[in-house]
Amino acid sequence: MEKSPLLNGSKEKSKDELSAALKTATTSVLLRSTPMPENAVTVKGPDFNNQLSLHELLEGYSRMGFQATSLDWRLSHEPILPDETEEYKEPLKRSTTKCKIFLGYTSNLVSSGLREIIRYLVQNSLVDVIVTTAGGVEEDFIKCLGQTYLADFQLNGAELRKNGMNRIGNLVVPNDNYCKFEDWVVPILDKLLEEQRNEGIIWSPSKIINRLGKEINNPDSIYYWAYKNNIPVYCPALTDGSLGDMIYFHTFKNPGLVIDIVSDIRSINQQAVFARKTGVIILGGGLVKHHICNANLMRNGADYAVYINTGQEFDGSDSGARPDEAVSWGKIKTDAEHIKVYADATIVFPLIVSETFVKEVHGSI
Ligand SMILES: NC(=O)c1ccc[n+]([C@@H]2O[C@H](COP(=O)([O-])OP(=O)(O)OC[C@H]3O[C@@H](n4cnc5c(N)ncnc54)[C@H](O)[C@@H]3O)[C@@H](O)[C@H]2O)c1
Repeated sequence: MEKSPLLNGSKEKSKDELSAALKTATTSVLLRSTPMPENAVTVKGPDFNNQLSLHELLEGYSRMGFQATSLDWRLSHEPILPDETEEYKEPLKRSTTKCKIFLGYTSNLVSSGLREIIRYLVQNSLVDVIVTTAGGVEEDFIKCLGQTYLADFQLNGAELRKNGMNRIGNLVVPNDNYCKFEDWVVPILDKLLEEQRNEGIIWSPSKIINRLGKEINNPDSIYYWAYKNNIPVYCPALTDGSLGDMIYFHTFKNPGLVIDIVSDIRSINQQAVFARKTGVIILGGGLVKHHICNANLMRNGADYAVYINTGQEFDGSDSGARPDEAVSWGKIKTDAEHIKVYADATIVFPLIVSETFVKEVHGSI
């Protein structure tokens, strides 16, 4: 049997050499640590031998590396600047001037049960500005008209098509829901066109979403509450979904409706420019992520940023870019607090909302 090269090698070494090598190895392996600061947090997971409340369980996450920002800033937390306007010197005004929160989410999240979490935030005016994609708008209204069902990622596409079922991940939406949506939305498009002609109203995507929120008149809807609470919802790609299909068909039945995206870019950018502090919470990537960050560029960056998405940065995509990339563009401030959570938002966001916004409304659970 051949001798191990290590043994062979060690045979050739002198005793002194071996003892010096051992000393080096020992000091490398057993390098002494500098003492930890007194306030250092130890790692500890939840112990299910004890019955834990949801709050105790979530508190455990803070010692597992899970991070979120509560965005609980008030202007009263800061000293009055010499050039402060009279209005903002008032203590009440200062204590009620909060961080303006921009919330963005992709369409599929409204198809999922996150829709109810988003509705809760809007119903309780816990966010100030929303950006979503067309599906994120219409799926909310469609859920007021029909059900979305839990299904399976593996369902066969051709079989589903035969049965008039549309799959979104492991959910299915009967195509009838989109027919009901058409029946509901087309008469509203007629009214918008009439008001454009008779009253000179120029409809933008945010104005249309506000109007649809009023028309649905259903407290289950995110956009009903956005309308009620005067929370603007921006969707620059409003036509990239079923809404676009309806608008397309409408151009044949009753042509002439014009949708203006210029007033909306002005409006969302002004939301950022005139905010005292801004925080961005972005679930998913693509348009919603960039549109919110770009608006914040107009104020030289957001003060807080929480990204929750599954995107990766190695492909150079904006979806996968970490907050630090947005810092380089001036979309997030250089001294901002920011975090990217690499996770499926449907798992993580309910936990974050429960530990932050829900506490603000109801106190500890
Ligand atoms: N229900 C739907 O998904 C639906 C319906 C109608 C129209 N559309 C249209 O499809 C187009 C593309 O949709 P989109 O821009 O809303 O998003 P998308 O589905 O293309 O997602 C964009 C990125 O967000 C991230 N992401 C998505 N879901 C996530 C999750 N659960 N957790 C963490 N990260 C997640 C991923 O990185 C993904 O690549 C839009 O124009 C939209 O209007 C979608």
